[in-house]
Amino acid sequence: MAKKKGRLDFIKMKQNHEQVAWVTAYDFPTAQFAEAAEMDMILVGDSLGMCILGYKGTVPVTMEDCISHCKAVRRGAPETFIVGDMPFGSYQITNSEAVYNAARFLKEAETDAIKLEGGLRTAGALKAIADAGILAMGHIGLTPQSSGPLGGFKAQGLDPYSARFVIEDALAVQEAGAYALLIEAVPPELCSFIAKKLTIPVYSIGAGGPCDGQLLISSDMIGMFQSFTPKFVKVYANVGEQITKAFKEYVKDVHTGVFPSDEYCYHIRKGMEEDYNKMLKEFE
Ligand code: KIV
Repeated sequence: MAKKKGRLDFIKMKQNHEQVAWVTAYDFPTAQFAEAAEMDMILVGDSLGMCILGYKGTVPVTMEDCISHCKAVRRGAPETFIVGDMPFGSYQITNSEAVYNAARFLKEAETDAIKLEGGLRTAGALKAIADAGILAMGHIGLTPQSSGPLGGFKAQGLDPYSARFVIEDALAVQEAGAYALLIEAVPPELCSFIAKKLTIPVYSIGAGGPCDGQLLISSDMIGMFQSFTPKFVKVYANVGEQITKAFKEYVKDVHTGVFPSDEYCYHIRKGMEEDYNKMLKEFE
């Protein structure tokens, strides 16, 4: 098994132009699979709201949801760097509340870092968290928690006017003391430019490359989340299809009495069959 990576390893990887591969995970088994695949890092994203809890977006997700899923992921991937995603409302009210909530991820769920959305507009909370000694990652570009003000789940920085805002956000995140930055759904040219400009590692989700690494949502890439698949997702497996196929076969087997056959049953202790049947008769 590969050695658990930390912040300095990620900086070294940036300097050596090595790409970080990471995915989201929300539960114990997926975390185990990610660790077995030697994933460099795992995000317990608030996308769990859509992928696991069935909400339309990430806004309803609570601190308790995030902490509980982070704990499960930590149990499944004890030797992997884990980033906990701060849910909407957990870092926007006051900086001290932001620090308190960020600390909960480390203390209760043993994550290695936290992530929060926003550049300039959340730089104060980011700075307060980083100043408290917590590894904090910024997340800019398409920020799902603020898809309302952005006009939906839309790519950002497609023209020079909006690209300027993305660059200003990136600079603000580094200035605030973040150890890394995630950029979502912008053109590759913009993401690469920012990755070269910043000294901290810059990761892409739907922002092409080259930068310092790629993130995908596990439920999208293995076909577990079927409501929609963003343009930037490469689907590596269709687990959802396989589960439906298995469930259908099971329904058929139960309805036709094929399951459970003898091989799936426990058997009466050898030599006790007669006594067993006698006992059953007493209750007839
Ligand atoms: O919650 C999440 O999975 C995320 C990704 C969309 C980056 O924040």
